[in-house]
Amino acid sequence: MCGIIGYTGNEDVREVLLDALELLEYRGYDSAGIAMEEEDAQETTVCKCAGRVRDLRQICTAEKSRRGCGIGHTRWATHGGVSDANAHPHRVGRVTLVHNGIIENYRELIRDYELEGALHSETDSEVAAALLDRFYDGEPVEALKQTVSKLKGTFALVVMFSDHRGVIYSTRNVSPIVATVSKQGGMLASDLTALCRFTSRYFVVPEYHVLELREDSVKLTDFDGKTVEPEYLKVDWELNSSGKNGYPFYMEKEIMEQPEAIIRTIENRVKGGMPDFSMDGVPDSLFTDCERICIIACGTAMHAGLVAQALVKSILHMHIEVEMASEFMYSDPVIDSGTLVIAVSQSGETIDTLEAVKYAKRRGARCLSVINVKGSSIARESDYVIYTNAGPEIAVASTKAYTTQLAVFYLIVARMAHSRGIFSAEETQSFIRELQRTPEVMEKVLKNRRDIHLMAKKVLGAKDLFMIGRGLDHSILLEGSLKLKEVSYIHSEAYASGELKHGPIALITADTPVVAAVTQDKLMSKELSNIREVASRGADVAVFIKESLAKGLEGEFALFALPDMRNEFMVMPASVALQLLAYYVSSDKGFDVDKPRNLAKVVTVE
Ligand code: M6R
Repeated sequence: MCGIIGYTGNEDVREVLLDALELLEYRGYDSAGIAMEEEDAQETTVCKCAGRVRDLRQICTAEKSRRGCGIGHTRWATHGGVSDANAHPHRVGRVTLVHNGIIENYRELIRDYELEGALHSETDSEVAAALLDRFYDGEPVEALKQTVSKLKGTFALVVMFSDHRGVIYSTRNVSPIVATVSKQGGMLASDLTALCRFTSRYFVVPEYHVLELREDSVKLTDFDGKTVEPEYLKVDWELNSSGKNGYPFYMEKEIMEQPEAIIRTIENRVKGGMPDFSMDGVPDSLFTDCERICIIACGTAMHAGLVAQALVKSILHMHIEVEMASEFMYSDPVIDSGTLVIAVSQSGETIDTLEAVKYAKRRGARCLSVINVKGSSIARESDYVIYTNAGPEIAVASTKAYTTQLAVFYLIVARMAHSRGIFSAEETQSFIRELQRTPEVMEKVLKNRRDIHLMAKKVLGAKDLFMIGRGLDHSILLEGSLKLKEVSYIHSEAYASGELKHGPIALITADTPVVAAVTQDKLMSKELSNIREVASRGADVAVFIKESLAKGLEGEFALFALPDMRNEFMVMPASVALQLLAYYVSSDKGFDVDKPRNLAKVVTVE
């Protein structure tokens, strides 16, 4: 969703801002803009437009290059359509502002402070600019505090005051801002991707504090006026790991990176063949003292939770629920001090998951999070964090984040099974050995990706499609189906194959291809019957099947053989295959695979 950048320093400010906005493009956006201090006057120039950063670059060329101070924004429309006027920055009087989040009470503010005449857009953000200008009498920090005291909702505000040259101000609630000072100057952003080029040191601006960023210093004060030392953290992502590395799309690159990513996830968490979370500081008591588990997450991360649910039930025989984070607080969840809440998130910033974690903690639960982005909001809010170490994931469609989340869940389940006396040491080690085989098994699938490309041709022209399977196969397909619909715009439904006869089979025709997964030995014969039911109604079926189960079926269906693993682990090769299927359909259709329409990588509004 919206991206923010701010820069004050010696380099050409226009270029720094535009380059950084390009790095933030992956978050998903529909318009972009920058504001820069004018060279000789206490004025600010604003350039903004609906469209891409490359469109913005074109309209900014008239601006003189200069060192100095500026802010930039990529907007994902929430309040007001996609238009030049609604793009940020918004300038009202001496205030120029960009905003992430939602100001829920913007209508009341317009009414109560009679701001209508100051507004030129339909956005809630411009209301914050107008209110700030109303309160501003030359003291930025006081005006910001006063403004924030009137705002309801989530916000990261980044502001320039035309009479305070060279300084960028910021304050926030929930929506994150990270900042740094390096030899090139002071920089802040909505996420680390934009800062990586400058430095590996950064700090997170705490909520309800005011940041004053200058080219060579930062000042952080709380709302009582007390100075606070920024807590610097280190990014351990290599700068070049966020490039495309020769691939046409990040999605393909990130799919291909999965074997390495899994190795990074597990290598330091296996000691003497046993799962070990000492590097994460996660005590065994977290796993032995809980009576039930509740997983909260959204989208792909929630699908990882569904696989974990199947493992917990079959191996640990424990009560477990997987909750959509966006529904969690409104569903009267059964959460107390006996509940281990596991929050799963790639970005660590998904607002629904973040709010759900806060809620669960208020109810006395202990919260462990499984996160990719270091130091992110959910990580900071949780009692314990296990980082997936997938490296930067830029494509909107999540791939390596998902399989590394699964790898963490295999480790957790094995550790729990052993610490709760369910697995012997030998059983635990054998389970972990299978996990360690995952990278080599994934490599085999990746090597045969041409065959998946051929399968993709089968579904290319479809408007609607079904994915069918039972048990773990159904969980795998929920994720495969999400992947396909988000990047290819094909309407795809993952259905438990036994349920098909209770309604949806009415939709099966020769124009409705079916993708099936058959990876679980004990479910195979029932799954095959369900596949034959759709085939006999004309559906063209593509089957992703465990290699050892494929014998004798070669002539009957189009098959892709998945290398054999223990049943619980078949989700790993199957997921890679389904990710590739979605990728090839999208790229063959000529879509912008990494930036599907309407979607954002980081979902920071409820
Ligand atoms: O950053 P998170 O893992 O919390 O994001 C959750 C979902 O928004 C995300 O998985 C989304 O569903 C992806 N676009 C799926 O590919």
